[in-house]
Amino acid sequence: MIYHIYPLSFFDSNNDGFGDLRGIMLKLDYLKELGVDAIWLSPIFLSPGADCGYDISDYYTIDPKFGTIDDFRKLREEAHHRNIKVVLDMVLNHTSNKHPWFIESASDKKSLKRDWYIWKPGKENRKPNNWKTAFGGSCWEYHKGTGQYYLHSFLKEQPDLNWRNKEVRKEMFRMLRYWLEEGVDGFRFDVINFIVKDKKLRNNSFLHWMNSSRKLRTRNHPRSYKIIRSLRKLLDKYPDKMSVGEIYTLPPGDAKLSASYLANGENSLHLAFDFSLIFTSWNARAYYKVIDRWQKSIPEKGWPCNVFSNHDLLRFYNRSRFGFFKKEKARIIALLLMTLRGTPFLYYGDEIGMKNSSVPLGKMKDKLGKKYWPLYKGRDRSRTPMQWNSYPNAGFSVAEPWLPVDKNFAEVNVESQKENPDSLLTFYQHLIMLRKSSAALHRGNWIALNNGSGNLMAYMRTTADEQILVLVNFSPFAKHYIYPLKSMDKLLLSTHKSSLGKTFHSKINLRPFEGLVFKLNEKE
Ligand code: GLC
Repeated sequence: MIYHIYPLSFFDSNNDGFGDLRGIMLKLDYLKELGVDAIWLSPIFLSPGADCGYDISDYYTIDPKFGTIDDFRKLREEAHHRNIKVVLDMVLNHTSNKHPWFIESASDKKSLKRDWYIWKPGKENRKPNNWKTAFGGSCWEYHKGTGQYYLHSFLKEQPDLNWRNKEVRKEMFRMLRYWLEEGVDGFRFDVINFIVKDKKLRNNSFLHWMNSSRKLRTRNHPRSYKIIRSLRKLLDKYPDKMSVGEIYTLPPGDAKLSASYLANGENSLHLAFDFSLIFTSWNARAYYKVIDRWQKSIPEKGWPCNVFSNHDLLRFYNRSRFGFFKKEKARIIALLLMTLRGTPFLYYGDEIGMKNSSVPLGKMKDKLGKKYWPLYKGRDRSRTPMQWNSYPNAGFSVAEPWLPVDKNFAEVNVESQKENPDSLLTFYQHLIMLRKSSAALHRGNWIALNNGSGNLMAYMRTTADEQILVLVNFSPFAKHYIYPLKSMDKLLLSTHKSSLGKTFHSKINLRPFEGLVFKLNEKE
C-alpha cells in the first residue's frame, strides 16, 4: 500500500506553517501502524513554488521549506528501519523558469543550452501553433529578450525540456542516478506521457477534444515509450526499485492508453495510473464497467494500481457526484481500494475522511484556482493540512498553516479516530491488515461475479489456495445476493460493524451501503 503525502501539508516540525521532512519522520510510527508499505512524496526539491513544487529549480537540493539533505537521509533511514519505502515525485517534462538551465537557455539564441528547451521563432501575437496547455491557454510564451516563443505544457513558469536533446537526457539520467544512490526506492514520474512532442510542431486537430489525447501531438508520442524503456533500464540496475507514471488522458480515464505504458510489464513502467475511478458516478454498474475495463487492459505480466483521490483531482469524500451518504460511501471506497486487484494508493487524510475544503480566494495558493475562480475553486481544496487532533490548527503546526485547516478538524482528526473501533481510520487499519494477511487479496486474480446490476457488485479474488468473496451494496436500500455459502465459509470483514458474528446462508442480506468480505472454504 502506497501512501501519498503532500509534504507541505503533512506535519510541520519547525512551526513555520509548512509541513516538512522532519515532520514526516515524526509521523512514521503512525504510518507504520496504519500498514503503509511505501510513502510517495510530492516534490521536495528546490522550487520557486509557482506550481507548489512541480516547478523545480534545482533537482539536487531539498527545498529549505522541507529541510536539508541530512533531513532527507534521516527520513529515508527511519522509514527503511520500519520497512517503509520512499518514493520521490520526479518532474522530468519541465523545469522551473528559474532553473539555471532555462535562464541560460533564454539568455541568448546562441546559448549552449538553447536547445535544452523548445524554442520557436514567431512574431508576438502569432503563436507557432494551436497547442494548448493542460491548464488552458496557449502552450507558447513569447520571450521578448530573444524574440522567440518557448513551449510550456503547464504554467508559463514551467518551460518544457527538449527530451530530443541528448544532453538533456544525459543530465536527467545523471540526476536520477544520484537519487537512486541516495537510496530512494522509486519514482512517481510526473506527466510522463507528455515528455516528447511532435517534432514538426504540427497543429492539433480542432476536434481533438472529441477524440482523445491519443490524437494530441503534444502527448503519448512513440518516443516517450522509448524514453520510458531507458528509465526502466536504469531502475533495473538497482535492486528492488519501482516506478509509477502519471498518465493523464483526455477524456479522463482512457484505461487502455494508461495500460500501454506498462508494455509487457518488463521494459516499461511498473505501475501507471488510470484515473477512471475518480471520474465514475456512484453506482455499481458504472464502477464495474470501469474496473473491468482497467483489469482487462493490463498486460499479462503487468500489474494494476488503484487510486481514488490525489492532489490534483480532489478527494473522493465529497466529490460532488458522491452526493449524500458520504460517510457510508467512504467506507465502501476504502473496501474497494483494499480488495481490488492492484496496488492501492491512499492519499493522506483519506483514511480519516478528510474532505475537500473550501479555501477562500484570498488564501488560495493554486494558480489554477485563482485563474478559474469562481467556476473552479482549484486544487488547494484537497491539499489542506493533515488533521492530527483537535488542538489549534489541527495539531499540524503552531504557526498559521500555509493553507487553512478545514473547519471540521475538531471532529475529523487522527486522535479522535485512533481509539474508536467504529472509526474510518480503524476500518482502514483492519482492511489493510486483512489485505496483507491474504495472498488472494494481495496478488490474486479478480473475477467478477456480476456486472454491477441491481446496484450491487460481487467479485472474487483468488489464488490457487485461497478464495475471497467481496460483495458491495452501492445503494441506500437493503439488497441480497445469492451465493451458496458453506458452513466453513467465514465473514472476515464488514463495513457495518454489527454484521460480524452473524450467520449467512445462500441468501446473503446486505444493508444499505454495506460491503462484506468472506473467506471461502475455511477449514474448521
Ligand atoms: C502533474 C502534477 C500536478 C502539476 C502538473 C505539472 O499533473 O500532479 O500537480 O501541476 O503535473 O507538473
